[in-house]
Amino acid sequence: MSKIEVIRNKIKPFKKSIIVDGDKSISIRWILFASLANGISKAKNLLISEDVIAAIKTIKKLGIKVILDRKICKIYGKGINGFKYKKNLTLNAENSGTLGRLILGLIINSQVPIKIIGDKSLSKRDFKRISDPLSKFGAKFKLKNNRNLPLKIVGSKNLKPISYFEKKGSAQCKSSVIFAGMRTDGTTKIKAKKSRNHTELLCKYLGLPISIKEKKQFDEIKIKKVKKIKSINYEIPGDISSSAFFIVLTALNNRSSLIIKNVNINPSRMGVITILKKMGVKIILKNKMIFKGEKKADIKIQSPKLLKPINCPSRLNSSAIDEFLIIFLVAAKAKGVSYFKNLSELNQKESPRLEWGSKILNLIGVKTITTKNSIKIFGNPNLKINKKIIIKNYLKDHRVFMTSVIAALSFGGLWEIHDRDSIKTSFPNFLKLVKFLKSDD
Ligand code: S3P
Repeated sequence: MSKIEVIRNKIKPFKKSIIVDGDKSISIRWILFASLANGISKAKNLLISEDVIAAIKTIKKLGIKVILDRKICKIYGKGINGFKYKKNLTLNAENSGTLGRLILGLIINSQVPIKIIGDKSLSKRDFKRISDPLSKFGAKFKLKNNRNLPLKIVGSKNLKPISYFEKKGSAQCKSSVIFAGMRTDGTTKIKAKKSRNHTELLCKYLGLPISIKEKKQFDEIKIKKVKKIKSINYEIPGDISSSAFFIVLTALNNRSSLIIKNVNINPSRMGVITILKKMGVKIILKNKMIFKGEKKADIKIQSPKLLKPINCPSRLNSSAIDEFLIIFLVAAKAKGVSYFKNLSELNQKESPRLEWGSKILNLIGVKTITTKNSIKIFGNPNLKINKKIIIKNYLKDHRVFMTSVIAALSFGGLWEIHDRDSIKTSFPNFLKLVKFLKSDD
Protein backbone atom coordinates (compact mmCIF):
# COMPACT_ATOMS: atom_id res chain seq x y z
CA MET A 1 0.00 0.00 0.00
CA SER A 2 1.24 3.44 -0.89
CA LYS A 3 1.92 5.58 2.16
CA ILE A 4 -0.25 8.69 1.94
CA GLU A 5 0.69 12.11 3.28
CA VAL A 6 -2.42 14.03 4.30
CA ILE A 7 -2.13 17.81 4.68
CA ARG A 8 -5.08 19.86 5.94
CA ASN A 9 -3.59 23.15 7.03
CA LYS A 10 -1.47 25.92 5.64
CA ILE A 11 1.81 26.58 7.44
CA LYS A 12 2.01 29.59 9.79
CA PRO A 13 4.64 32.30 9.21
CA PHE A 14 8.08 31.09 10.36
CA LYS A 15 11.55 32.50 11.03
CA LYS A 16 13.99 29.62 11.25
CA SER A 17 17.29 28.10 10.27
CA ILE A 18 17.74 24.61 8.78
CA ILE A 19 20.32 22.29 7.25
CA VAL A 20 19.29 20.18 4.26
CA ASP A 21 20.66 16.75 3.25
CA GLY A 22 23.92 16.41 1.29
CA ASP A 23 24.07 17.06 -2.44
CA LYS A 24 23.02 14.04 -4.53
CA SER A 25 25.10 14.76 -7.64
CA ILE A 26 28.27 15.33 -5.61
CA SER A 27 27.62 12.31 -3.33
CA ILE A 28 27.31 9.92 -6.29
CA ARG A 29 30.33 11.41 -8.06
CA TRP A 30 32.47 11.19 -4.90
CA ILE A 31 31.57 7.47 -4.58
CA LEU A 32 32.50 6.79 -8.20
CA PHE A 33 35.82 8.67 -8.07
CA ALA A 34 36.71 7.10 -4.69
CA SER A 35 36.01 3.65 -6.16
CA LEU A 36 38.79 4.26 -8.72
CA ALA A 37 41.26 5.85 -6.29
CA ASN A 38 44.28 4.29 -4.66
CA GLY A 39 43.63 3.84 -0.94
CA ILE A 40 40.95 4.88 1.50
CA SER A 41 38.71 7.87 0.77
CA LYS A 42 36.44 9.29 3.47
CA ALA A 43 33.35 11.48 3.19
CA LYS A 44 31.33 13.31 5.81
CA ASN A 45 27.72 14.33 5.28
CA LEU A 46 27.26 11.94 2.36
CA LEU A 47 23.60 11.91 1.32
CA ILE A 48 22.17 8.69 2.74
CA SER A 49 19.38 8.20 0.23
CA GLU A 50 18.27 5.32 -2.01
CA ASP A 51 20.03 6.71 -5.11
CA VAL A 52 23.30 7.03 -3.22
CA ILE A 53 22.98 3.62 -1.52
CA ALA A 54 22.40 2.16 -5.00
CA ALA A 55 25.76 3.70 -6.05
CA ILE A 56 27.45 2.12 -3.02
CA LYS A 57 25.87 -1.28 -3.77
CA THR A 58 27.07 -0.95 -7.37
CA ILE A 59 30.74 -0.37 -6.55
CA LYS A 60 30.55 -3.16 -3.94
CA LYS A 61 29.38 -5.51 -6.71
CA LEU A 62 32.44 -4.40 -8.66
CA GLY A 63 34.63 -5.63 -5.81
CA ILE A 64 35.18 -2.39 -3.85
CA LYS A 65 34.93 -2.42 -0.06
CA VAL A 66 32.74 0.25 1.54
CA ILE A 67 32.09 0.97 5.19
CA LEU A 68 29.17 3.28 5.85
CA ASP A 69 28.04 4.55 9.19
CA ARG A 70 25.88 7.54 10.04
CA LYS A 71 28.75 9.99 10.25
CA ILE A 72 31.31 8.82 7.75
CA CYS A 73 31.62 6.73 4.60
CA LYS A 74 34.91 4.99 3.80
CA ILE A 75 35.69 3.59 0.37
CA TYR A 76 38.67 1.32 -0.12
CA GLY A 77 39.66 2.04 -3.72
CA LYS A 78 41.94 -0.38 -5.56
CA GLY A 79 43.12 1.97 -8.27
CA ILE A 80 41.85 2.85 -11.72
CA ASN A 81 41.92 -0.82 -12.81
CA GLY A 82 40.64 -2.22 -9.52
CA PHE A 83 37.12 -3.27 -10.54
CA LYS A 84 36.39 -7.01 -10.65
CA TYR A 85 34.13 -7.90 -13.55
CA LYS A 86 32.49 -11.22 -12.63
CA LYS A 87 30.49 -13.32 -15.07
CA ASN A 88 26.74 -12.63 -15.22
CA LEU A 89 27.07 -9.31 -13.41
CA THR A 90 23.89 -7.26 -13.02
CA LEU A 91 24.05 -3.71 -11.66
CA ASN A 92 20.85 -2.10 -10.41
CA ALA A 93 20.68 1.68 -10.81
CA GLU A 94 17.20 1.65 -9.21
CA ASN A 95 15.72 5.18 -9.68
CA SER A 96 18.97 6.98 -10.49
CA GLY A 97 19.66 8.28 -13.99
CA THR A 98 22.94 9.70 -12.72
CA LEU A 99 24.15 6.31 -11.50
CA GLY A 100 22.78 4.40 -14.50
CA ARG A 101 24.47 6.65 -17.03
CA LEU A 102 27.72 7.50 -15.22
CA ILE A 103 28.53 3.89 -14.33
CA LEU A 104 28.53 2.97 -18.03
CA GLY A 105 31.54 5.22 -18.61
CA LEU A 106 33.39 3.56 -15.74
CA ILE A 107 32.77 -0.05 -16.77
CA ILE A 108 33.54 0.54 -20.44
CA ASN A 109 36.77 -1.46 -20.11
CA SER A 110 34.93 -4.66 -19.07
CA GLN A 111 35.28 -7.48 -21.54
CA VAL A 112 32.53 -9.52 -19.96
CA PRO A 113 28.94 -8.44 -20.57
CA ILE A 114 27.33 -6.44 -17.76
CA LYS A 115 23.58 -5.97 -17.43
CA ILE A 116 22.17 -2.68 -16.13
CA ILE A 117 18.65 -2.62 -14.73
CA GLY A 118 16.54 0.04 -13.03
CA ASP A 119 13.11 0.61 -11.48
CA LYS A 120 9.90 1.30 -13.42
CA SER A 121 10.64 5.02 -13.81
CA LEU A 122 14.30 4.59 -14.89
CA SER A 123 13.27 1.83 -17.31
CA LYS A 124 11.16 4.37 -19.22
CA ARG A 125 14.07 6.80 -19.63
CA ASP A 126 16.39 7.31 -22.61
CA PHE A 127 19.68 5.41 -22.48
CA LYS A 128 20.37 5.69 -26.22
CA ARG A 129 21.64 9.19 -25.51
CA ILE A 130 24.59 7.59 -23.68
CA SER A 131 24.98 4.25 -25.50
CA ASP A 132 25.47 6.21 -28.77
CA PRO A 133 28.62 8.10 -27.71
CA LEU A 134 30.00 5.19 -25.67
CA SER A 135 29.63 2.88 -28.69
CA LYS A 136 32.01 5.16 -30.59
CA PHE A 137 34.74 4.35 -28.01
CA GLY A 138 34.34 0.67 -29.01
CA ALA A 139 31.76 -0.61 -26.50
CA LYS A 140 28.87 -2.80 -27.67
CA PHE A 141 25.33 -2.28 -26.39
CA LYS A 142 22.00 -4.04 -26.48
CA LEU A 143 19.10 -1.96 -25.21
CA LYS A 144 15.44 -2.81 -24.76
CA ASN A 145 13.57 -1.23 -27.70
CA ASN A 146 16.96 0.19 -28.78
CA ARG A 147 16.54 2.88 -26.16
CA ASN A 148 15.77 1.64 -22.63
CA LEU A 149 16.87 -0.48 -19.70
CA PRO A 150 17.53 -3.29 -19.19
CA LEU A 151 20.66 -2.94 -21.28
CA LYS A 152 23.78 -5.00 -21.78
CA ILE A 153 27.21 -3.49 -22.30
CA VAL A 154 30.37 -5.25 -23.39
CA GLY A 155 33.34 -2.95 -23.17
CA SER A 156 36.80 -3.26 -24.67
CA LYS A 157 40.45 -3.10 -23.72
CA ASN A 158 41.28 -1.11 -26.83
CA LEU A 159 39.10 1.94 -26.57
CA LYS A 160 39.45 4.66 -29.20
CA PRO A 161 39.19 8.34 -28.17
CA ILE A 162 36.16 10.17 -29.56
CA SER A 163 34.97 13.67 -30.41
CA TYR A 164 31.53 14.16 -28.91
CA PHE A 165 29.04 16.99 -29.23
CA GLU A 166 26.65 16.95 -26.25
CA LYS A 167 23.70 19.08 -27.38
CA LYS A 168 21.04 18.42 -24.73
CA GLY A 169 22.79 20.01 -21.75
CA SER A 170 22.97 16.63 -20.01
CA ALA A 171 25.58 16.51 -17.27
CA GLN A 172 25.02 12.77 -17.01
CA CYS A 173 26.02 12.15 -20.65
CA LYS A 174 28.95 14.58 -20.43
CA SER A 175 30.22 12.98 -17.20
CA SER A 176 29.89 9.43 -18.49
CA VAL A 177 31.95 10.32 -21.56
CA ILE A 178 34.57 11.98 -19.32
CA PHE A 179 34.83 8.71 -17.31
CA ALA A 180 35.18 6.70 -20.53
CA GLY A 181 37.83 9.18 -21.76
CA MET A 182 39.78 8.54 -18.55
CA ARG A 183 40.10 4.89 -19.63
CA THR A 184 41.12 5.60 -23.23
CA ASP A 185 44.53 6.19 -24.88
CA GLY A 186 44.74 9.55 -26.65
CA THR A 187 42.60 12.62 -26.15
CA THR A 188 38.80 12.56 -25.96
CA LYS A 189 37.27 15.87 -27.03
CA ILE A 190 33.86 17.00 -25.79
CA LYS A 191 31.89 20.04 -26.83
CA ALA A 192 29.06 20.24 -24.29
CA LYS A 193 26.09 22.52 -23.88
CA LYS A 194 26.37 24.11 -20.41
CA SER A 195 25.34 21.79 -17.58
CA ARG A 196 26.39 21.09 -14.00
CA ASN A 197 30.17 20.70 -13.81
CA HIS A 198 30.79 18.71 -10.62
CA THR A 199 32.65 15.98 -12.54
CA GLU A 200 35.02 18.48 -14.16
CA LEU A 201 35.68 20.20 -10.82
CA LEU A 202 36.55 16.89 -9.15
CA CYS A 203 38.85 15.97 -12.06
CA LYS A 204 40.62 19.32 -11.71
CA TYR A 205 40.88 19.04 -7.93
CA LEU A 206 42.38 15.56 -8.28
CA GLY A 207 44.94 16.86 -10.80
CA LEU A 208 43.69 14.60 -13.62
CA PRO A 209 44.66 15.38 -17.24
CA ILE A 210 41.59 17.44 -18.12
CA SER A 211 41.39 20.84 -19.81
CA ILE A 212 38.26 22.96 -19.93
CA LYS A 213 37.58 26.02 -22.07
CA GLU A 214 34.42 27.81 -21.05
CA LYS A 215 32.61 29.46 -23.95
CA LYS A 216 29.32 31.35 -23.77
CA GLN A 217 26.96 28.47 -24.53
CA PHE A 218 29.27 25.47 -24.68
CA ASP A 219 32.26 24.13 -22.78
CA GLU A 220 35.15 22.50 -24.62
CA ILE A 221 36.62 19.66 -22.60
CA LYS A 222 39.64 17.51 -23.34
CA ILE A 223 40.42 14.44 -21.25
CA LYS A 224 43.35 12.04 -21.52
CA LYS A 225 43.97 8.59 -20.09
CA VAL A 226 44.24 8.60 -16.29
CA LYS A 227 46.89 6.40 -14.69
CA LYS A 228 46.25 7.06 -11.01
CA ILE A 229 43.71 8.80 -8.80
CA LYS A 230 44.67 9.78 -5.27
CA SER A 231 42.22 9.06 -2.47
CA ILE A 232 39.85 11.90 -1.77
CA ASN A 233 38.50 13.05 1.59
CA TYR A 234 35.41 15.18 1.21
CA GLU A 235 32.67 16.94 3.10
CA ILE A 236 29.49 16.99 1.02
CA PRO A 237 27.67 20.36 1.12
CA GLY A 238 23.86 20.67 1.27
CA ASP A 239 21.90 20.18 -1.94
CA ILE A 240 20.61 23.36 -3.66
CA SER A 241 17.89 21.25 -5.36
CA SER A 242 16.62 20.08 -1.95
CA SER A 243 16.98 23.63 -0.57
CA ALA A 244 14.78 24.91 -3.41
CA PHE A 245 11.63 23.41 -1.83
CA PHE A 246 12.16 25.41 1.35
CA ILE A 247 13.28 28.53 -0.51
CA VAL A 248 9.94 28.44 -2.32
CA LEU A 249 7.98 27.60 0.85
CA THR A 250 9.42 30.77 2.37
CA ALA A 251 8.78 32.81 -0.78
CA LEU A 252 5.11 31.78 -0.82
CA ASN A 253 4.39 32.46 2.86
CA ASN A 254 4.01 36.04 4.05
CA ARG A 255 6.09 37.29 6.96
CA SER A 256 8.47 34.34 6.82
CA SER A 257 12.23 34.10 6.64
CA LEU A 258 14.64 31.20 6.53
CA ILE A 259 18.36 30.51 6.62
CA ILE A 260 19.60 27.31 4.97
CA LYS A 261 23.14 26.60 6.10
CA ASN A 262 26.07 25.18 4.17
CA VAL A 263 24.58 24.74 0.70
CA ASN A 264 26.50 24.03 -2.52
CA ILE A 265 26.27 27.15 -4.71
CA ASN A 266 28.06 25.90 -7.80
CA PRO A 267 27.12 28.50 -10.50
CA SER A 268 26.01 25.69 -12.83
CA ARG A 269 23.24 24.89 -10.31
CA MET A 270 22.19 28.44 -9.39
CA GLY A 271 19.41 28.96 -11.95
CA VAL A 272 16.73 28.66 -9.27
CA ILE A 273 18.24 31.55 -7.30
CA THR A 274 18.55 33.77 -10.39
CA ILE A 275 14.98 33.00 -11.48
CA LEU A 276 13.42 33.53 -8.04
CA LYS A 277 15.31 36.80 -7.56
CA LYS A 278 13.94 38.01 -10.90
CA MET A 279 10.47 37.09 -9.60
CA GLY A 280 10.96 39.31 -6.55
CA VAL A 281 12.10 36.85 -3.86
CA LYS A 282 14.70 38.32 -1.51
CA ILE A 283 17.68 35.97 -1.37
CA ILE A 284 21.10 36.70 0.11
CA LEU A 285 24.16 34.43 0.15
CA LYS A 286 26.25 34.62 3.31
CA ASN A 287 29.49 33.05 4.56
CA LYS A 288 30.66 32.13 1.05
CA MET A 289 33.48 29.59 0.96
CA ILE A 290 35.27 27.31 -1.47
CA PHE A 291 35.80 23.65 -0.55
CA LYS A 292 37.92 21.51 -2.89
CA GLY A 293 36.79 23.45 -5.95
CA GLU A 294 33.07 23.67 -5.03
CA LYS A 295 31.48 26.88 -3.71
CA LYS A 296 29.20 26.83 -0.70
CA ALA A 297 27.29 29.39 1.38
CA ASP A 298 24.39 29.97 3.75
CA ILE A 299 21.23 31.08 1.93
CA LYS A 300 18.91 33.63 3.53
CA ILE A 301 15.39 33.97 2.12
CA GLN A 302 12.67 36.48 2.95
CA SER A 303 9.12 36.32 1.67
CA PRO A 304 8.29 39.27 -0.61
CA LYS A 305 5.02 41.24 -0.60
CA LEU A 306 4.40 40.63 -4.28
CA LEU A 307 5.74 38.04 -6.72
CA LYS A 308 6.47 39.10 -10.30
CA PRO A 309 5.89 36.90 -13.36
CA ILE A 310 8.85 35.90 -15.51
CA ASN A 311 9.58 35.27 -19.18
CA CYS A 312 12.30 32.83 -18.27
CA PRO A 313 15.42 33.08 -20.47
CA SER A 314 16.26 29.62 -21.90
CA ARG A 315 19.92 30.10 -20.99
CA LEU A 316 18.90 29.48 -17.35
CA ASN A 317 17.18 26.14 -18.13
CA SER A 318 20.10 23.80 -17.54
CA SER A 319 21.17 25.43 -14.26
CA ALA A 320 17.61 25.10 -12.89
CA ILE A 321 16.64 21.85 -14.60
CA ASP A 322 15.62 19.99 -11.42
CA GLU A 323 13.83 23.01 -9.93
CA PHE A 324 11.17 23.89 -12.50
CA LEU A 325 8.31 22.04 -10.81
CA ILE A 326 8.80 24.06 -7.65
CA ILE A 327 9.46 27.30 -9.57
CA PHE A 328 6.08 26.81 -11.31
CA LEU A 329 4.39 27.20 -7.89
CA VAL A 330 5.94 30.65 -7.55
CA ALA A 331 4.64 31.54 -11.01
CA ALA A 332 1.20 30.31 -9.87
CA LYS A 333 1.13 33.06 -7.23
CA ALA A 334 2.80 35.80 -9.29
CA LYS A 335 0.81 38.78 -10.55
CA GLY A 336 0.69 38.07 -14.29
CA VAL A 337 1.62 35.47 -16.89
CA SER A 338 4.92 33.59 -16.72
CA TYR A 339 6.47 31.76 -19.64
CA PHE A 340 9.02 28.93 -19.59
CA LYS A 341 10.28 27.58 -22.93
CA ASN A 342 12.67 25.08 -24.57
CA LEU A 343 12.06 22.66 -21.73
CA SER A 344 11.58 19.34 -23.56
CA GLU A 345 14.27 17.84 -21.29
CA LEU A 346 11.84 18.18 -18.36
CA ASN A 347 9.75 15.35 -19.77
CA GLN A 348 12.86 13.11 -19.72
CA LYS A 349 13.10 13.05 -15.93
CA GLU A 350 11.83 10.62 -13.26
CA SER A 351 8.31 11.49 -14.51
CA PRO A 352 7.25 13.70 -17.43
CA ARG A 353 7.65 16.81 -15.30
CA LEU A 354 6.33 19.43 -17.69
CA GLU A 355 3.08 17.44 -17.84
CA TRP A 356 3.02 16.99 -14.06
CA GLY A 357 3.76 20.68 -13.49
CA SER A 358 0.73 21.73 -15.47
CA LYS A 359 -1.40 18.93 -13.97
CA ILE A 360 -0.72 20.13 -10.42
CA LEU A 361 -1.36 23.77 -11.36
CA ASN A 362 -4.65 22.90 -13.08
CA LEU A 363 -5.75 20.86 -10.06
CA ILE A 364 -5.24 23.91 -7.84
CA GLY A 365 -7.18 26.15 -10.22
CA VAL A 366 -4.33 27.83 -12.09
CA LYS A 367 -4.68 28.14 -15.85
CA THR A 368 -1.77 26.91 -18.00
CA ILE A 369 -1.07 26.54 -21.69
CA THR A 370 1.36 23.68 -22.16
CA THR A 371 3.12 22.41 -25.28
CA LYS A 372 5.73 19.63 -25.64
CA ASN A 373 8.45 21.99 -24.49
CA SER A 374 6.89 25.07 -22.92
CA ILE A 375 4.40 26.25 -20.35
CA LYS A 376 2.53 29.52 -19.83
CA ILE A 377 1.27 30.00 -16.29
CA PHE A 378 -1.50 32.49 -15.50
CA GLY A 379 -0.62 33.50 -11.94
CA ASN A 380 -3.03 34.57 -9.21
CA PRO A 381 -1.62 36.48 -6.18
CA ASN A 382 -4.78 35.60 -4.18
CA LEU A 383 -4.58 31.88 -4.87
CA LYS A 384 -6.41 29.85 -2.22
CA ILE A 385 -7.57 26.24 -2.39
CA ASN A 386 -10.82 25.08 -0.78
CA LYS A 387 -11.14 21.54 -2.13
CA LYS A 388 -9.68 18.08 -1.90
CA ILE A 389 -6.67 17.33 -4.06
CA ILE A 390 -5.31 13.84 -4.68
CA ILE A 391 -1.84 13.31 -6.15
CA LYS A 392 -1.04 9.75 -7.26
CA ASN A 393 0.37 7.59 -10.06
CA TYR A 394 3.26 9.95 -10.72
CA LEU A 395 5.92 7.20 -11.08
CA LYS A 396 7.01 7.98 -7.49
CA ASP A 397 8.87 11.06 -8.72
CA HIS A 398 10.32 12.54 -5.51
CA ARG A 399 10.09 16.08 -6.86
CA VAL A 400 6.37 15.73 -7.69
CA PHE A 401 5.74 14.61 -4.10
CA MET A 402 7.74 17.44 -2.52
CA THR A 403 6.26 20.10 -4.84
CA SER A 404 2.77 18.91 -3.85
CA VAL A 405 3.60 19.17 -0.14
CA ILE A 406 4.87 22.74 -0.60
CA ALA A 407 1.72 23.65 -2.57
CA ALA A 408 -0.48 22.22 0.20
CA LEU A 409 1.38 24.13 2.93
CA SER A 410 1.30 27.37 0.94
CA PHE A 411 -2.16 27.46 -0.67
CA GLY A 412 -4.34 25.36 1.68
CA GLY A 413 -6.98 22.78 0.75
CA LEU A 414 -7.15 19.14 1.79
CA TRP A 415 -4.36 17.16 0.17
CA GLU A 416 -3.86 13.43 -0.12
CA ILE A 417 -0.41 12.88 -1.57
CA HIS A 418 0.44 9.24 -2.30
CA ASP A 419 3.81 7.45 -2.24
CA ARG A 420 5.44 9.30 0.63
CA ASP A 421 8.47 7.00 0.38
CA SER A 422 9.44 8.63 -2.92
CA ILE A 423 11.45 11.21 -0.94
CA LYS A 424 13.86 8.46 0.09
CA THR A 425 15.63 8.67 -3.30
CA SER A 426 16.93 12.22 -2.83
CA PHE A 427 15.83 13.93 0.39
CA PRO A 428 14.93 11.50 3.23
CA ASN A 429 14.76 14.28 5.83
CA PHE A 430 12.29 16.40 3.85
CA LEU A 431 9.22 15.67 5.97
CA LYS A 432 11.17 16.03 9.24
CA LEU A 433 12.18 19.53 8.15
CA VAL A 434 8.57 20.32 7.21
CA LYS A 435 7.53 19.23 10.72
CA PHE A 436 10.21 21.45 12.25
CA LEU A 437 9.08 24.49 10.25
CA LYS A 438 5.45 23.84 11.25
CA SER A 439 6.32 23.48 14.96
CA ASP A 440 6.58 26.29 17.51
CA ASP A 441 10.19 25.32 18.47
C1 S3P B 1 22.34 15.17 -12.90
C2 S3P B 1 22.09 15.73 -14.13
C3 S3P B 1 20.76 16.13 -14.58
C4 S3P B 1 19.77 16.24 -13.43
C5 S3P B 1 19.87 15.06 -12.51
C6 S3P B 1 21.26 14.96 -11.92
C7 S3P B 1 23.72 14.77 -12.55
O1 S3P B 1 20.26 15.18 -15.51
O2 S3P B 1 18.46 16.38 -13.90
O3 S3P B 1 18.94 15.16 -11.44
O4 S3P B 1 23.99 14.53 -11.36
O5 S3P B 1 24.55 14.73 -13.45
P1 S3P B 1 20.60 15.22 -17.07
O6 S3P B 1 22.03 14.89 -17.26
O7 S3P B 1 19.69 14.21 -17.69
O8 S3P B 1 20.27 16.62 -17.51
